[in-house]
Parts: sequence; C-alpha cells; structure tokens
Amino acid sequence: MTERDTTGATARGARAVEWEACRNLIQRCGLDPELFDLLTRADSEHRPECLRLVDLGGRFVSFVLVVPRRVLIAGVPVDGALVTLVGTDPAHRGRGFARLLLEDTVAFIRARGFRVALVCGPPDFYARFGFVSCLGEYASCFDPGRVLSRPGAGGVPAIWRPMTDQDIPEVAALYAGATAGTPGTVLRPPERWVWRDRSRGRGGLAGLAVWQVDAGPVQAYVRWAVGQAGLPADCLGVSEVGAASPTALIASLEWTANKALEADLARVRFGGPPDHLFSRLAYLRVGGELQVKAAGAGQILVTNRGLLMADLVQTLAQRAAKAGLPPGTAVVLDVGSKRLELLYAGDRLRLLGGRAGRQDDRPVSRLPVEAFTAMALGYAGGGELEALPGVALAASHREALAVLFPPAYPQWVPAPYW
Ligand SMILES: CC(C)(COP(=O)(O)OP(=O)(O)OC[C@H]1O[C@@H](n2cnc3c(N)ncnc32)[C@H](O)[C@@H]1OP(=O)(O)O)[C@@H](O)C(=O)NCCC(=O)NCCS
Repeated sequence: MTERDTTGATARGARAVEWEACRNLIQRCGLDPELFDLLTRADSEHRPECLRLVDLGGRFVSFVLVVPRRVLIAGVPVDGALVTLVGTDPAHRGRGFARLLLEDTVAFIRARGFRVALVCGPPDFYARFGFVSCLGEYASCFDPGRVLSRPGAGGVPAIWRPMTDQDIPEVAALYAGATAGTPGTVLRPPERWVWRDRSRGRGGLAGLAVWQVDAGPVQAYVRWAVGQAGLPADCLGVSEVGAASPTALIASLEWTANKALEADLARVRFGGPPDHLFSRLAYLRVGGELQVKAAGAGQILVTNRGLLMADLVQTLAQRAAKAGLPPGTAVVLDVGSKRLELLYAGDRLRLLGGRAGRQDDRPVSRLPVEAFTAMALGYAGGGELEALPGVALAASHREALAVLFPPAYPQWVPAPYW
C-alpha cells in the first residue's frame, strides 16, 4: 500500500487558462507533449474539464487527459472515453496522487454518461480502478515468399502509392468496414489530424499506402512499419488493412509480401484479430500462423452498465430473433451490486434494472463485474462464462446467454497520430 499523504490536494477538471501549466506537467512526467497538443487543440470534442488534475495548493502534481470517443461494442457505436497521458510529477510519486486522480476521473467519466472507458497501460495499475483486461493481442504471421510464389500471384494490377490527405475520406470508410466486427474499435472520423502518421518520427520506417485502379476511388489501404519498438527485427509489421473487395484484399496481401521482400524481411506480421479478412486470407491462402494472446495492455471499464445494455438491446433482440429464441425467454443477471433483467418479447428485448440480491422465484445468474465486462465485449462469450472465476450461472440462462453474447476478438488499435 502507498502511504497516503494527499492532505490539501484536490482532484478536479482544469480550466482553459490552465492548459499551459498542464502541458508543463506532461513534460515533467516524461509524457508526449505533441500528443497532448493534438488531443487538446486539434480534437473538436475536447473540453477543458477533460483535463483532470490534482491541485496541491496551486501546484499541479498529477494529470490525466480524458478523450471522448465513440467505441464499437457488439457492432454498436457507444459513447466512450479514452484515458490517456496519465502521470504524476516525479517529485510527488508514491503518495497516492494518481489514486486520487483516477478515482475522480472514473467518477467524471461516469457522471458524463460515457458508457465505457478505455486505457492502454499497466494492467495491475489500472485494475485498481476497475479496469478489466479484455482487449486481446493478435498476430497473423506469414512467409512473403509463399505469397508471391503462388500461381497467379501478381495478376492483380498493383498501383500502390503513399496515402495523401485527399484519400482520407475513402480510407476512413475502409477502416470502418474492416473494423466493424471488432469490439473495442475506436471510431475514426475523416479528419486530417486523426490520420496524421506520427509513427514515422519514432525510428524505423512506417507509413500508410493506398491501392487505386486508374483514377478511381481508393480500394485498399495498408498501415505498415519496419524496425519499430515491439516489432521483431525480421518482420514487416502491418497494423491495419482495409479493402473494398476480395481482389483489393489479395492486392494488399501481395503488396505486403513485396514490401517485406524488398526490405529483405523474412516475415509479414499482421496485428489484426484472427477473424479479420486479411488474417483469414493469409491463413487460407499461404498457411499463415494465427496467434491469439490473452489481453495484455488494453483494458476497459464499463462505467454505466445500464446505459450500455440499453444501447445494445436492439442488436441483442436481432441476435435472439436470428437464433429463434422463444419469446418470453428471460435472463436475470446480478452483476456486482446491480441487477439487469433481459426479457425477449419476440420483436424486442426489454431491459429492467434493479438492485442485486432481491429474492423472487426466478433463477438468477451471478457475474462478477470482470466477467460481465468480458461478456459485453465478447472477450468471453455468454456460453463460456463458467470458465471465468466467480460466475454462478442459472442452467436455464445458458442457451440465451450464448445466443445474446457470442464470442469475438476485441482489440485496441492506436490511431496513426498516437
Ligand atoms: C504510474 C504513475 C502515474 C503513478 O503515480 P503515483 O502518484 O506515484 O501513484 P500513487 O501513489 O497514487 O499509487 C496508486 C497505486 O498504484 C500503485 N502503482 C503506482 N505505480 C504503479 C505501476 N507503475 N504499476 C502498478 N501499480 C502502480 C501504487 O502502489 C498504489 O497502490 P495502492 O493505492 O494500492 O497502494 C506514475 O508513476 C507516473 O507518472 N509514471 C510515469 C507515466 C506512466 O507510467 N503512466 C501510466 C501509464 S499509462
């Protein structure tokens, strides 16, 4: 336990005039001031109170930036917040200021009606504040030589060039299409700064390339990197691929293979989930190797369970209808201190809230908040919940939960400006 010594300290939102002082603190903490500038000055959704700080008698000692974002969950864009640039002045660490700050930040996010908060950082630190590690880590690796030695390889006219600002609306649409099935995806508007590739300045090589036939619309894009931290030295890293058609997807596979061979690299490593079309293509066409690792750094906190479920009910009702769940099917979940009741009425799903533990004659399933979060994100399917600690499922809920909450591959992908 940290020795608490936060006497005289207050956690609060910043005022517009305090921007410069916050930026100075970011620098003292060794964090990225250019990212701070982008997220405060370029982002139209930024408000001064999204800068949360700990004020110790007029000196700012701890800091976090809350970034409003729409986040995909079960294919539905929900109001979410990214928690980023978290730091305490090195001279004031270990006194409980970050705890004070993050407790205030979570309360702020909840009070503003954001359904979820996302963070990418040390899991044991953020778990203290309720964040659950459930944004997985994936890799699909393949030998570029195998792609190009296939009969018919290179048959797709490969007119690739670096992405320009004019391509942004088309690339943003390809990104949206490619990530529609990945929970945890942060929606990316077609604004210039959002697509500004800052990874180029971080050593190694990186870029965004697009594929176009004649002067038509952009049909594919690839975000790639070589020699960057965290990437094996013999790999071309591909963090994003979006393609408008199967032909454009094959063109992307061939482009990455060519790019790797030109740079004398033995492998291409795609970081998207295993159900991404590019992973599937690599796997089926050249025997790519799929890796699925348990969540590492990407975490999520459901700040408003009721509001999140209310956002999802229409999708859940469609799933129920598609699977032919009998009308009248009910699921009663006690999640932490809250009760959530889902009643399928044939054409819609009714959602009721309440207090957990209420006694009545209906079966109740009990889920720790962590298991509920994993289920809402698809990290664990509703039919897999009993693999998680602390879950007590009512037998009559098993089938409905499996139908309503299929497993998926949630992921955290930092935007190019990150
Ligand atoms: C991480 C950081 C924000 C912690 O700030 P702090 O004010 O020293 O933290 P606190 O004293 O409030 O500690 C809060 C709790 O987190 C724990 N903690 C602190 N740093 C931690 C870390 N890096 N990993 C895991 N737990 C950590 C403390 O032990 C304490 O636990 P307790 O309340 O159960 O006793 C600070 O070390 C920092 O600015 N680091 C550089 C930037 C950074 O790493 N940011 C976070 C990554 S996104």
